[in-house]
Amino acid sequence: MPPASRTWTVDSIPDQSGRLAVVTGANSGIGQVTAETLARRGAHVVLACRSPERGRAALDRLLAAAPGARAEVRRLDLGDLASIRAFADGWDHDRLDLLVNNAGVAMVPFARTADGFESQFGINHLGTFALTGLLLPHLAASPGARVVTVSSEGQRFARLDFDNLDAERGFRTTVAYGQSKRANLYFATELQRRADAAGLPLRSMAVAPGLTRTNVLTGGANSRRGRLYRTLIRSLMRLAFRPTPEGAKTSLYAATVADLPGGSYVVPDGPFQLRGEPVPRHGERAQLDTGTARRLWDLSEKLTGVPFLPWDHGGAGRPLP
Ligand SMILES: NC(=O)c1ccc[n+]([C@@H]2O[C@H](COP(=O)([O-])OP(=O)(O)OC[C@H]3O[C@@H](n4cnc5c(N)ncnc54)[C@H](OP(=O)(O)O)[C@@H]3O)[C@@H](O)[C@H]2O)c1
Repeated sequence: MPPASRTWTVDSIPDQSGRLAVVTGANSGIGQVTAETLARRGAHVVLACRSPERGRAALDRLLAAAPGARAEVRRLDLGDLASIRAFADGWDHDRLDLLVNNAGVAMVPFARTADGFESQFGINHLGTFALTGLLLPHLAASPGARVVTVSSEGQRFARLDFDNLDAERGFRTTVAYGQSKRANLYFATELQRRADAAGLPLRSMAVAPGLTRTNVLTGGANSRRGRLYRTLIRSLMRLAFRPTPEGAKTSLYAATVADLPGGSYVVPDGPFQLRGEPVPRHGERAQLDTGTARRLWDLSEKLTGVPFLPWDHGGAGRPLP
């Protein structure tokens, strides 16, 4: 059993030396803390960032905080399938032990990605799906590979509307965000089911960080919102949101607790799972709803052109159901 949440702290993370990790969106917020903490513990961390400048600045901060850490920056824009393919094609390590699918946008105004997808669906779900699929051969080359996908408890209020997943029939930013984060949970769970069916020794976890002070509501496309919005959000963040390291705990827990089972969904254990210490929660509806998960998977393969099969991983290699 994983350790009880009250006994786990960031200090209990075991030595990560020899572990090779990718953290997407590692230049800001939860991703930056996740990357820094893993690097401090000895992992070799690849900071996958859409802006080379912001990525380099994050690397400088990391190396200043953890001199001698093993870290590098690579460019990755999850809103552009060509960039995702270039990242995967350029992978020159012999394997990948940990992929933290952290990058995301939230509550942004309507926009489409380079490939024409609504940006929250396109970046948060389809980009994450495509990246994981393209990196799968490298994950399969690691005996203890993990994929950690950052969802949100906002997913609980969302239902996937397959007629409007890509804002074909209308757009409300909260709905689009909620759907994209629910898609993250469906994806993480279905990835585990498919890895199990294929005999691939990979563990896929989803996490929710809880309310966390980051740039997610004020940076990127949200920085172009009006002054009133930004003032209100900043006040709300000061009052209700926790410091960034608190929000990175669920990702770090899912990435490092040795005997955490694949398919876990790790959330903060406090009221409404918005704050507290990390704990795995079982029986979430999206984790049990295999029909919707498969439908989303098929659609995601079609939209991204990234098939997860065949997996040439030297494992059991059974065809997936
Ligand atoms: N903060 C919360 O309360 C909260 C709650 C629930 C879930 N989450 C989730 O936590 C994750 C991390 O967000 P955060 O709160 O730490 O926000 P953040 O500070 O804004 O960090 C988000 C990161 O994602 C990157 N990103 C955005 N679009 C990208 C793209 N197209 N390609 C590659 N990277 C991209 C950002 O890069 P740039 O700096 O270049 O924009 C940034 O590095 C997100 O998935 C978010 O949905 C956060």
